[in-house]
Amino acid sequence: MASKQISILAKNVFHRAANSSKKTAFQAFSSKTNVSTKTRRKLPDDGITLSKFIASQQPEMSQNEEENLGPVPTSTPLDLYKEEEPLTMKFHLKTYGCQMNVSDSDIIRSILLDEKNNSIQFEETQEEMDADVLLTNTCAIRENAEQKVWHRLKELRAHDSKNPLEKIALVNEEEKKTRYGKKKANKRKRIIGVLGCMAERLKEDMFRDGTADLIVGPDAYRDLPRLINALAPKPTGNTGQQDNQESLKMYEMPQLERALNVELSFDETYADINPVRANPDDVSAFVSVMRGCNNMCSYCVVPFTRGRERSRELESIVREARILFEEENVKEICLLGQNVNSYHDKSESAILARPAVENENSENKRGSYRAGYNMSNDGFSNMFKLRGGAGYYFVDLVEAISDISPELRVRFTSPHPKDYPPELLSLMAERHNVCNHLHMPAQSGSSTVLERMRRGYTREAYLNLIDDVKTLIPDVAISSDFITGFCGETEEEHQDTLSLMDHVAYDQAFMFAYSMRGKTHANRTMEDDVPEDVKSRRLQEVISMFRTRVQERNDEMEVGKLRLVLVEGEAKKKKEGKIRWGGRTDQNKRITFDYKKCWTEENIQPVLSALNQSYPSNPMMRSDLLYQLATSPKVEVQSGDYAVVQVDEARGHVLTGKLLWRASQSMFSEMGLDENSLGLFGSY
Ligand code: 5AD
Ligand code: SF4
Repeated sequence: MASKQISILAKNVFHRAANSSKKTAFQAFSSKTNVSTKTRRKLPDDGITLSKFIASQQPEMSQNEEENLGPVPTSTPLDLYKEEEPLTMKFHLKTYGCQMNVSDSDIIRSILLDEKNNSIQFEETQEEMDADVLLTNTCAIRENAEQKVWHRLKELRAHDSKNPLEKIALVNEEEKKTRYGKKKANKRKRIIGVLGCMAERLKEDMFRDGTADLIVGPDAYRDLPRLINALAPKPTGNTGQQDNQESLKMYEMPQLERALNVELSFDETYADINPVRANPDDVSAFVSVMRGCNNMCSYCVVPFTRGRERSRELESIVREARILFEEENVKEICLLGQNVNSYHDKSESAILARPAVENENSENKRGSYRAGYNMSNDGFSNMFKLRGGAGYYFVDLVEAISDISPELRVRFTSPHPKDYPPELLSLMAERHNVCNHLHMPAQSGSSTVLERMRRGYTREAYLNLIDDVKTLIPDVAISSDFITGFCGETEEEHQDTLSLMDHVAYDQAFMFAYSMRGKTHANRTMEDDVPEDVKSRRLQEVISMFRTRVQERNDEMEVGKLRLVLVEGEAKKKKEGKIRWGGRTDQNKRITFDYKKCWTEENIQPVLSALNQSYPSNPMMRSDLLYQLATSPKVEVQSGDYAVVQVDEARGHVLTGKLLWRASQSMFSEMGLDENSLGLFGSY
C-alpha cells in the first residue's frame, strides 16, 4: 500500500535524524541535507520542491552510510504525494513583549502566508483550539516575562490531552506508542513552537518536559515553513478503524519530532519581506529599520538574544513607508529598532550618497565620520567603538520619511540617549511632522549606578541633554525607562533616581524591578544583592513619583491647549454611556473625546483668521463669528483623520478633550493659535 511506503520513507528520514548522537533534531536534519541557512535563503522560487532541492544538494553517501539506512523503497511515493493538493495547516500566533516582537510577528505571518516551496500551505486562525501549529513569540527581558511563557506553553500542551479535534492514527503503531505513550496515541498532537528572544536565550532547554516541539530564534524566521514541514504528520488520504469502529485519519510519520534553528545573523533584516499587519485598519504602522544591539548595558540580555546591530537599506524603508501611506491609510510611521537612533545604512548606494570625511572634532579617532556629523552629544560615549564612516545615519532616515508627505507623522522607538546628535534634534524642531516626543531611557538617576550599568553617560550629561532638548523643542514630551534595585543600588543612589524624575517631570515612564539575566556582564561580575522587597518598595516609590509629576505637568501644560490628534477610532472606555473616540497627540499622549460631528478646516479657517485680527476688541465681530460657526456644515471624523481637540482634563498621562474640527497637519502648524483665540471655543 502506498501509504505504508510513505511511512517507511518518512521513518527512515526520522531515524537518520534521531540517530545522530547528541545533535539536536534540527542540527541533525540540517547536516543531513547539508543546506546552510544562507543557501536556504536562496531557494529558487520557480516551483522546485524542497525535497528535490535538498536532493540536489545531498552529498554522495558512502557505502557504509547507505547500509545503515535500511531498505529504500524502489518507487517514490513521497514525490507522488507532493503532486497532490498541498496540505493546509492552520497556525495561531501569540505575541509577548515589546513592539519589536509585534513587528517580527508581522514578518512571521508574511513568511508563512507566502510560503510556496513546501507541500504545506498556511492559514492563520485566531482560535487556539482550531490551530495545528501554535506559535508563541516570546520575550526574555525579565524573569517574569519568561514565566508567563512557560505557563502558557504548559497550558497549551495540557490541552492536547482534551483536544476535541479529529483523532488520528500515525501509520507506524510502534513509533506512535514510543512517542506519545499508549494513552495519547490516538490524539492529534499539535505543533507547539517557541519563537523570539526566549527561544534564542534558552535554545534546547525549551524542549524540557516536552513543552515545545519547535524552537526558532529571531534571525531564523525564514526557516519556519521548512521546519514545520519536517514536524508535520501528513494525512495519507486513508482512514483506519479502531476497536470501537471509530474512524481515524491515517498519517505518515513526520520527518522530525523536534526542530530548532537559533542561528543569529550579521545581516538578516527581513528587508524584502512585506509584513502582514495583525490589524490592517490601524492608522499607525511600525516599520522595522534595524535589528540587534551593540551596547551591552550590563543588565540587558538583548544583545545576546537579538545579536549585533544591522540596519536595513534606507531606500527599502522609504519604499515600505510610502506604500503604507499611499495605499493603506497609514498616517503615522513609527520607525522601529532595538537601538533605533544608532541606525547606520552602510550599503553601497548609501556610501556613495554620503561619503566619509575625517572629522577632526570627533571623539572617536578610529573611525572617520561624515563631514560635520556628530554621533553623540557631549558627555555620552559608546560601548561599541567602531562606529562612524560613510552612509546614511538616523537623521537621514527620519528626514527621508518625513519628506514622503507633510501629512505623514514620523515617530521612532526605542532609542538610546547617546544617539541624539544635534542634527537630529534640529530636524525634530524644524519639521512639524516629526513628532515632538522623545524617549530618553535614563534607567537610573545616579552616576555610579549608570557606570555599573555601562550606560555611557552620567546624571549630569543626561540632564544637560534634557535641557538642550527642552530649549530646542519647547513643546516636547519626554518619556523614560527606569530600573530599581540594580546590583549594589544603595538608598542614596535610589534617591538620585527619584530626584532626577522630580526634576525632569516625565510625560510617560516604564518602570521595572531589576531582574538578573544570564550571560550579561552584571550576571558575570556583580551580585544581585538588593532584596526583592526592597526592589519592590523602590519601584513603588518611583511609580508614585512619576504619577505625581505627570499629573502636575499635564495640568499645567495640557489642560486648555488645542492639540492635533491622529484619530484612531472608537475608544474602549465609554463615558456615561456615550460613544467615545480616541487618538494620540503629537506628544504621544492618549486622548479621548465625545464622538460627534465637527467643523472642517475649510470652514473654521476664515473664522480663525478674522479672529486673529479682531478678537477680543470687537464684540460685534465676535458674535458674528460665533453665528457663522454655528451655521457652518459639520462632518464626521474617521480613523486616520487629524482633528483638533481642546484638552479639558488630564488623568495621569491620559487626556480627555472636546473635538473641534477636522484638520491637516500642515495647516494646523501654520495657524499659530494663541491663548486668546481659544476663548472663542469656550462658548461652543
Ligand atoms: N531587569 C529589569 N529591567 C530591564 N530592562 C532591561 N533589562 C532589564 C532587566 N534585566 C528594562 C530597561 C529597558 C527596558 C526595555 O527594559 O529599562 O530600557
Ligand atoms: Fe538592552 Fe542597553 Fe541595548 Fe537597550 S541599549 S537593548 S537596554 S543593551
